[in-house]
Amino acid sequence: MAETILITGVSSGLGYGLADHYLNAGADVYGCSRGEPTDLVARGLKFAPVDLSDESTGRAAFATLIEEASHFDLVILNAGKLGKIRDMKDTPLDDLRETMEVNVWSNKWILDELFTRDRRIDQVVAISSGASQSGSRGWNGYSLSKAALNMLVKLYAGERPETHFTALAPGLIDTAMQDYLTNLPEDPRYAPLEILKAAKGTPKMPDGQTCARRLIEAFPQLKHRESGEYADIRKL
Ligand SMILES: NC(=O)c1ccc[n+]([C@@H]2O[C@H](COP(=O)([O-])OP(=O)(O)OC[C@H]3O[C@@H](n4cnc5c(N)ncnc54)[C@H](OP(=O)(O)O)[C@@H]3O)[C@@H](O)[C@H]2O)c1
Repeated sequence: MAETILITGVSSGLGYGLADHYLNAGADVYGCSRGEPTDLVARGLKFAPVDLSDESTGRAAFATLIEEASHFDLVILNAGKLGKIRDMKDTPLDDLRETMEVNVWSNKWILDELFTRDRRIDQVVAISSGASQSGSRGWNGYSLSKAALNMLVKLYAGERPETHFTALAPGLIDTAMQDYLTNLPEDPRYAPLEILKAAKGTPKMPDGQTCARRLIEAFPQLKHRESGEYADIRKL
């Protein structure tokens, strides 16, 4: 039977690559983001426009999208917001709040909606980041939110023993996020920028499609790890 898969953030980058691969493999694929990937929808993606920064509208739209799905073999919580690289002291609280809404709290209400109606969910992979561990200067709300995401995943793993959870750092990916980072002027305060600029255009920073292929190969082996753990694809 075809696998049933949900991916958040399907309009670009890694999420687009994942949806593209699973559609090619004949899976039943559900996805959401604000922008619509019209080519994927034409190929059968079940899509709803959802703004994950706004629970008041997004949650109902998401619930409608998944209404008819009785189970998911795999849920990939991929959507994410980077925000601006700048010091904490210069980052407005509203910006941090929005980053937390998209990168953490939306995943809480998405999981709560998924687990309604006795829906069976076999595996959840939340796309985390090495920034959840490094806390490099300038990565303010992004690092905070990805560290909180790791803990959210661990907490749900404790409540849902029938579902396998992982928070997975995917490594560097050449997407819109990296376009922003690698186009910033060099700044000695924000040391990782130099590493990212050097990696761009090399195999150290694969594109969304290539990274998606690697992750898809790794998903089954994640199930051998303890549920709720943080893992880094580069260290598997
Ligand atoms: N690129 C990297 O090097 C890298 C490294 C480590 C981890 N990651 C993680 O990988 C994941 C994918 O990122 P990416 O690099 O593929 O970035 P991307 O190309 O910017 O894609 C981000 C996706 O998230 C969606 N999204 C953002 N804000 C949203 C909102 N308010 N509501 C709904 N959807 C929203 C975007 O869709 P819309 O804008 O259409 O809404 C888009 O589909 C993220 O979780 C990111 O933190 C990336």
